[in-house]
Amino acid sequence: MKIILTGDRPTGKLHLGHYVGSLRERVKLQNSNEFDEIYIMIADAQALTDHAGTPATVRENILNVALDYLGVGLDPNKVTLFIQSQIPALFELTAYYMNLVTVSRLERNPTVKAEIAQKNFETSIPAGFLCYPISQAADITAFDATCVPVGEDQTPMLEQTREIVRKFNDLYGNGENILVEPDIFLPTSNVCRRLPGLDGKAKMSKTLGNCIYLSDDSDTLAKKVQTMYTDPTHIKVTDPGHIEGNVVFTYLDAFCDDVATVNEMKEHYQRGGLGDVKVKKFLLNVLEETLKPIRERRKQYENDPAAVMKILQEGTIKANDKASTVLARVKKAMKINYFE
Ligand code: TRP
Repeated sequence: MKIILTGDRPTGKLHLGHYVGSLRERVKLQNSNEFDEIYIMIADAQALTDHAGTPATVRENILNVALDYLGVGLDPNKVTLFIQSQIPALFELTAYYMNLVTVSRLERNPTVKAEIAQKNFETSIPAGFLCYPISQAADITAFDATCVPVGEDQTPMLEQTREIVRKFNDLYGNGENILVEPDIFLPTSNVCRRLPGLDGKAKMSKTLGNCIYLSDDSDTLAKKVQTMYTDPTHIKVTDPGHIEGNVVFTYLDAFCDDVATVNEMKEHYQRGGLGDVKVKKFLLNVLEETLKPIRERRKQYENDPAAVMKILQEGTIKANDKASTVLARVKKAMKINYFE
């Protein structure tokens, strides 16, 4: 069986970093028809591990993320879209896996470590936050996922999941693999793995305020492209310009299929004689071409939020059935199926 599970925290609308880092790949995988089952989860319980005080934000963004999913072309007839908090099996699995992981291993998880520093948690780390890699292992294993398409920042989560799977199978498998070891699926190109922000900072992120959102209208998009960081030493059009760290060219690499034209533009820019305004205009067209169909599809669903909630509800019922079956298998292996 080839099974996909992946998801996102509903803490905001999804942006171009999510798109090239994972969403675009998910749509391709969906359309490849190579997978037996595809589960895409809105990770509201994980969002609450650092948003416990603002549940309204999480609730609001469930619909936003669902609209972004449907907008990019994830098809509810092909993928199961569901809400994490509504699947009790995930929390049971988390509790059992907690006994297989040490606190120091969690503290060493590079993504958790970076987030702790970024959020200034210091000595007041919520226990739920520290443990979210364990709950992520539950998310993945509850669906027998073989393939997890995610952004590069999720690599440590997948490593931890694989460790938990091995430990579980060792302890409780009696020679059998009860849990499935998943593979991570990353975009092949480096640019797509980590799309920089509009301001040239290493990462597009809501907190840094340097995003283009999938739901931005054309005017907003045009304004944002205008503000993009280019090459501060490229003052006159005739000056030779630099490509490295020049966000406009990075985005062309990520979004423009016409590689020959992009290469020509790069050479021209480096030689001198190609102005930023022209390159930005070209990029704007490319981005508009990508975003227009997404925006339009998103709009259709926006007009019918009840239909979107119904898609999520139906997906959640299906996901719950699957996760319950896996949980039963786990409990049996752990010999805690007393009343069977
Ligand atoms: N950690 C992911 C994010 O930050 C969301 C997520 C939760 C997830 N559980 C998952 C991703 C399981 C892949 C698989 O967006």
